[in-house]
Amino acid sequence: MLHGRRVLLILSGGIAAYKSLDLIRRLRERGVAVRAVMTAAATHFVTPLAVAALCEDKVYTDLWSLTDESEMGHIRLSREADLVVVAPASADLIARMAAGLADDLATTVLLASDKRVLIAPTMNLVMWAHPATQANLATLASRGVVRVGPGSGELACGEIGSGRMAEPAEIVTAIEQVLQAPPALPSRASGGGEVGGRLAGRRALVTSGPTREPIDPVRYISNHSSGKQGHAIAAALAGLGADTVLVSGPTQEPPPPGVQLVPIETAAEMLTACEAALPVDIAVMAAAVADWRVESVAGHKLKKDAKGPPMLRLAENPDILATIAQRANDRPRLVIGFAAETEDIVENARAKRARKRCDWILANDVSPSSGTFGGDRNTIHLVEGGTVEHWPVMTKKEVAARLAQRISEYFDRP
Ligand SMILES: Cc1cc2nc3c(=O)[nH]c(=O)nc-3n(C[C@H](O)[C@H](O)[C@H](O)COP(=O)(O)O)c2cc1C
Repeated sequence: MLHGRRVLLILSGGIAAYKSLDLIRRLRERGVAVRAVMTAAATHFVTPLAVAALCEDKVYTDLWSLTDESEMGHIRLSREADLVVVAPASADLIARMAAGLADDLATTVLLASDKRVLIAPTMNLVMWAHPATQANLATLASRGVVRVGPGSGELACGEIGSGRMAEPAEIVTAIEQVLQAPPALPSRASGGGEVGGRLAGRRALVTSGPTREPIDPVRYISNHSSGKQGHAIAAALAGLGADTVLVSGPTQEPPPPGVQLVPIETAAEMLTACEAALPVDIAVMAAAVADWRVESVAGHKLKKDAKGPPMLRLAENPDILATIAQRANDRPRLVIGFAAETEDIVENARAKRARKRCDWILANDVSPSSGTFGGDRNTIHLVEGGTVEHWPVMTKKEVAARLAQRISEYFDRP
């Protein structure tokens, strides 16, 4: 789906700039036209020559280049793309974006751009955790800037923690998700990490969308989950100030501003991403995770031949909700699951809650006549301990707002 799309890639001065070379290669393989802008600092980490060679295009570094300005102009540079990707996004560039500065080519292009912006931050963990960086990220999120990563692990500086740039494959998936989705309206109401909101200081993990279980390199097993409900919940929690990680399978939904998107495809990848996001205070598992995967995925496209159709042997996927709800040392304080049911909705939800050992279950009717899968409305029964609340039919955004409200009340209790 990326073939023919145009990405303006801005590289700033981070040690992870070398990974952006691989990102360019992967984008070019998919038929994406990549034009690159580098900050002065970025040129200390990778050479403009290497970037130009991989882009198969000129690289732009100087706001004051007479040649570049007469040939292309910084305004055209900012407009002739479908998406602006900042990778790596340094703490410094994030700060300059948040302040609306235009003191070099990269920031001038960003300020003059009318396109969606995806950032892949990378930095030392103390720089990442600094309130200034976090406030700058919240400002960018409130303006609709989408973020992928950073992940946790050993950093180039030798310390361990958050700050590793997302891997090139994850950035490509995030680019696909952003480009597939209709433009999100950047507004505070649609998320954006409200500073000082009722969930400020809390960390939330939300899963959303379907998973895709490969059969061979071109086929997969999946389901009709649209991701609308999970994405709306992530947006609502971020809107109340929670630091929100959204682990999502492929959907048409725009990644909500203010959340950290971790794009995945399979159930196994979703579990790994959820475990990497821990510790969190709140986990809302809204994804429709495939129960089964194909036991041995073919390395080549399966051919139609005289032997007849292939037999697919299925293996059980990990139970992500139960795994997170039963973590020994870092179980989230509030674990919420969804039960998509077509009959005996509340009874099945009660049983699921007990089996998985989660705190709340939101049971919903997904029989084809309900229009829940893919639709904009949902009818929820909240099963909490011995009580069941029956919510009226609401839009998925209303369900998300009500759930976020209930979660904040839960954390208000002593
Ligand atoms: C070896 C080295 C590695 C660095 N790595 C990072 C990094 O990963 N992230 C970051 O935000 N800054 C990093 N910096 C600092 C930035 O390069 C510096 O803040 C620079 O001014 C950023 O400029 P720019 O945002 O215009 O690209 C590093 C500096 C050095 C010397």
